[in-house]
Amino acid sequence: MSAVRIAPSILSADFARLGEEIRAIDAAGADWIHVDVMDGHFVPNITIGPGVVKALRKHTAKPFDVHLMIAPVDPFLQAFAEAGADCISVHPESGPHLHRTLQTIKALGKRAGVVLNPGTPVDVIDHVMDLVDLVLVMSVNPGFGGQKFIESQLPKITELRRRIDASGRAIDLEVDGGVDRSNAARVIAAGADALVAGTATFEGGPSRYADNIAALRGL
Ligand code: DX5
Ligand code: ZN
Repeated sequence: MSAVRIAPSILSADFARLGEEIRAIDAAGADWIHVDVMDGHFVPNITIGPGVVKALRKHTAKPFDVHLMIAPVDPFLQAFAEAGADCISVHPESGPHLHRTLQTIKALGKRAGVVLNPGTPVDVIDHVMDLVDLVLVMSVNPGFGGQKFIESQLPKITELRRRIDASGRAIDLEVDGGVDRSNAARVIAAGADALVAGTATFEGGPSRYADNIAALRGL
């Protein structure tokens, strides 16, 4: 397996200085920039829209890993693609036709991800695997940064690793929520190859970002 990718969630960044924050995590070694989009309807919080994603695009060449927590999701896929998303991940619960949503993302020329909430069974990906580039396992219920990692998701990560390997496809397995230096090694050992980290990246301020990201890699 290739080295684990670290995707800082900008939800924990200083929103008044987002451009600077993105340049800082880029310089500190982030692999992807994780963008949490919330609508106050699918999840109980509101964050940012495609206009902000577009404004941030010029601050880094690193891939934008856009996590959409909005419903209905289909009407906004094109806007996020045009704003500069590289990978667009959706929850199966955010629209009536997961397969169609993934087809749309692929037709827009973007990588497609499926997000599994803690209560969402792994079977949901069984018949869409051919359209999936990334599976994102939520290890908290979506809506807020800074929540506690839900341990019961570890065997789910292992099961998804088994299914992805069996598929023979190059599908990334990313884990999001409560990931920090105390549990990152276990999450990787369970089969993850990409870690989202908001609090654990941004804690301590810019002088700590490089060390925080290295610690998540186990360095
Ligand atoms: C939760 C978001 C996560 C979250 C991660 O809905 O999808 O990306 O912000 O934040 P931490 O790492 O602080 O749990
Ligand atoms: Zn997220």
